[in-house]
Amino acid sequence: MPPLFQTQQFAVRELSEEQIPTLQALFEANPDYFLSVNGLPPGPTEAQREFEELPPSHLSYGARWFAGVFDQADALRGVIILVSDLAAKGVWHTALFFLERSLRGTGAANELHRALEATARKQGAQWLRLGVVAGNLRAERFWSKCGYKEVRTRAHINAAGEAKITNVLVKSLYGGDLRQYLQLVPRDAPNSQLP
Ligand SMILES: CC(C)(COP(=O)(O)OP(=O)(O)OC[C@H]1O[C@@H](n2cnc3c(N)ncnc32)[C@H](O)[C@@H]1OP(=O)(O)O)[C@@H](O)C(=O)NCCC(=O)NCCS
Repeated sequence: MPPLFQTQQFAVRELSEEQIPTLQALFEANPDYFLSVNGLPPGPTEAQREFEELPPSHLSYGARWFAGVFDQADALRGVIILVSDLAAKGVWHTALFFLERSLRGTGAANELHRALEATARKQGAQWLRLGVVAGNLRAERFWSKCGYKEVRTRAHINAAGEAKITNVLVKSLYGGDLRQYLQLVPRDAPNSQLP
C-alpha cells in the first residue's frame, strides 16, 4: 500500500485489519494517554474499536485514513487517524495522533505533523481541526506550538465516569481567520448547540 505520506524517518500508511493486534500491543505498552484521557488503561479491544469508529452519522466527510506510523525498520511506532472534509469541504480532522513514549520529545511529532499538513494542503485542505482533552498538557502545548487555536469546548463524561472538557482546535492553512472558519463550520462556534 502506498504511504499516505512519508518523512525522513517515517512512513505513514494505512493499517489493515490484520495489523490491529500490533496496534493493540502498542496501545497496551503506552497506556498513559488512555489513563489521562479515558481515566482507564486501553481496553482489550481498544485498537479494534478505534479502527471501526467512523465519524458520527450526522456529519459528512470525504475520506478516512487509519494509518500506522512505521519507522525505517518497518516497526509500528504510532497511529494517525485522519478524516478529510469533515462537516465542510476543506476541513481536515485529526481524530488521533499518537506516538509511542520513546518518540515523544524527539521532534518526531513535529516532523510528522509538518508532513501531514503538507499532504492535507496539497489535497485541498484549508483548515486542520482536532479535539484535545483539557489536562493532556503535552498535547495541548504541542498543538499550540503547531499553530492551532481554540474555537470551542465540549464537556463530556469519559469511560471512567470523570467529567472532562475537550477543546476543539483549528489551524488555517491559508491565513484565514476564525470568523471565516465559523462561517464554514457553525457547529464549532463557542456557544453552538449544534451536535
Ligand atoms: C501529543 C504528542 C504527539 C506530542 O509529541 P511530543 O513529542 O510529546 O511533543 P513535542 O514535540 O512538543 O516535544 C515535547 C518536548 O520534547 C522536546 N523536543 C521537541 N523537539 C525536539 C527535538 N527535535 N530534539 C530534542 N528534543 C525535542 C522539547 O523539549 C519539547 O518540549 P517544549 O514544549 O518545551 O518545546 C505526543 O506527546 C503523544 O503522542 N502523546 C500521546 C497521545 C496524545 O496525547 N495525542 C494527542 C491527542 S490530542
